[in-house]
Amino acid sequence: MPTTPALRMTHISKTYGTGSSQVQALRDVSLSIERGTLTLILGPSGSGKSTFLTIAGGLQTPDSGEISIDGQPMKALSKRAQDRLRLENIGFILQGHDLVPYLTVMEQFQLVDRVKPKGNISKNELLQLLKDLGVDQLANSLPRDMSGGQQQRVAIARALYTKPSLVLADEPTSALDSHSVEVVGELLQSVAHSQNTAMVVVTHDTRLVTLADDVYDMEDGVLTHRAR
Ligand SMILES: Nc1ncnc2c1ncn2[C@@H]1O[C@H](COP(=O)(O)OP(=O)(O)OP(=O)(O)O)[C@@H](O)[C@H]1O
Ligand SMILES: [Mg+2]
Repeated sequence: MPTTPALRMTHISKTYGTGSSQVQALRDVSLSIERGTLTLILGPSGSGKSTFLTIAGGLQTPDSGEISIDGQPMKALSKRAQDRLRLENIGFILQGHDLVPYLTVMEQFQLVDRVKPKGNISKNELLQLLKDLGVDQLANSLPRDMSGGQQQRVAIARALYTKPSLVLADEPTSALDSHSVEVVGELLQSVAHSQNTAMVVVTHDTRLVTLADDVYDMEDGVLTHRAR
């Protein structure tokens, strides 16, 4: 029996601006992503990676095309149901890591518990996850007292905290040294495989290619599957 893809996009296009300042950020993008896989979308700056990711997660609407998350067409859902689906099913790691500035690392997770009290990983699993990411010593630290790479790793833990079926990660290794890239890359791969998560990483970091199950290239808004 065919499985339901965690993410399915069909004929997605997106243009910003009007007239001479018009930019076509995505051109007829279609893809299907299964759970239990790490997918890499590689492209240079300005190629449309963040646009792709925010549209995939319903944070922005496309001009045309369809998106389904775990088999549910986004368009068919009310705004409220879309918010719920996003909260329950998707973990975001956005460019700029968006930690709450006045909350400590532990409080970032307590905040998630308030919004989504059920189905998250346990306290012990969280401590192990922070340890795996090398940020367990920072439990009581505020973002401003942490390096960019440390904040990035906490943001990764926060995205995985809710046990999402789909993780959408925008340049999750941009602030990391090469050792941490390896650690984080292997963690994302291991979570994808062991927890049956669809892990989608957009990046220009080619160091992750060897870990990926599937690789796409993004160039000027055109997505191409890479033969391997
Ligand atoms: N809100 C916006 N308004 C107008 N143009 C935009 C907007 N967001 C993105 N663009 C343009 O759309 C194109 C794709 O941008 P996008 O941010 O998706 O690229 P990216 O691959 O994520 O780049 P980077 O690697 O620098 O993060 C670029 O030409 C960009 O200038
Ligand atoms: Mg971007």
